[in-house]
Amino acid sequence: MSNQIIEMFSRIAGKYDLMNDLLSFTLHRLWKKKILKYCKTKPEAKFLDCATGTGDIAILLAKKFRELGSVLAIDLSEEMLAIAKEKAKRITNIDFEVADVEKLEYKDDSFDCATISYGIRNVAHLDKALKEMARVVKSDGKVVILEFGMPKGLWGLLFKFYSSNIITFVGKIVVKDFFAYKYLHDTVAAFPCGNDFLKRMHYTNSYKSTNMKRLCGGISYIYVGVPK
Ligand SMILES: C[S@@+](CC[C@H](N)C(=O)[O-])C[C@H]1O[C@@H](n2cnc3c(N)ncnc32)[C@H](O)[C@@H]1O
Repeated sequence: MSNQIIEMFSRIAGKYDLMNDLLSFTLHRLWKKKILKYCKTKPEAKFLDCATGTGDIAILLAKKFRELGSVLAIDLSEEMLAIAKEKAKRITNIDFEVADVEKLEYKDDSFDCATISYGIRNVAHLDKALKEMARVVKSDGKVVILEFGMPKGLWGLLFKFYSSNIITFVGKIVVKDFFAYKYLHDTVAAFPCGNDFLKRMHYTNSYKSTNMKRLCGGISYIYVGVPK
């Protein structure tokens, strides 16, 4: 993973949650909650939340599986993790670690479910991350991915305008970091979505089945893979 990208997330960590609320009109909260439906598993499940950032998904999972389940949340940015830890300080079934989703140091089949929300677009080697998540999840478990897409048609044009003008403008004003939000626009525009992303999952030869759900006309997608 490029250090530059991790440094960028560390730089914006303090305003990351505020920006997510502003730029998505809080919709990201709804999309993150939707993930839970696809993470259904046994009550004593072990979860791995990759690229957890400020910990939203890890916290939702830890609360939902409070009785018996446990969550390990990983990220490469210590600054993002510090905020996640603060948000989760009253939650007992969650642990945080600095770790790279492309090189997971956990044994095969260690988890019942791995999640990654708006993180997979930021890794240096998409295939490595997809393989690693499948490797550490049991073959009856799930890898659940939430990521931006690029809508088609008029909706796509509007989204492109919003992302290339408004998002970068708000980033410059609120976070004083034009680069970070230009990076968001550029990576969303270039990243595979929908069936193209499912093909990338298949090419890793690590999943026996894959599925997807389009959110908000294609602004985001949930991808679910069952590891081999
Ligand atoms: C856009 S944020 C997503 C944070 C959070 N999951 C969310 O949904 O709000 C992307 C995160 O990916 C992390 N990241 C990027 N590459 C990574 C890698 N190879 N391994 C672990 N974390 C990584 C960054 O540090 C950053 O916190």
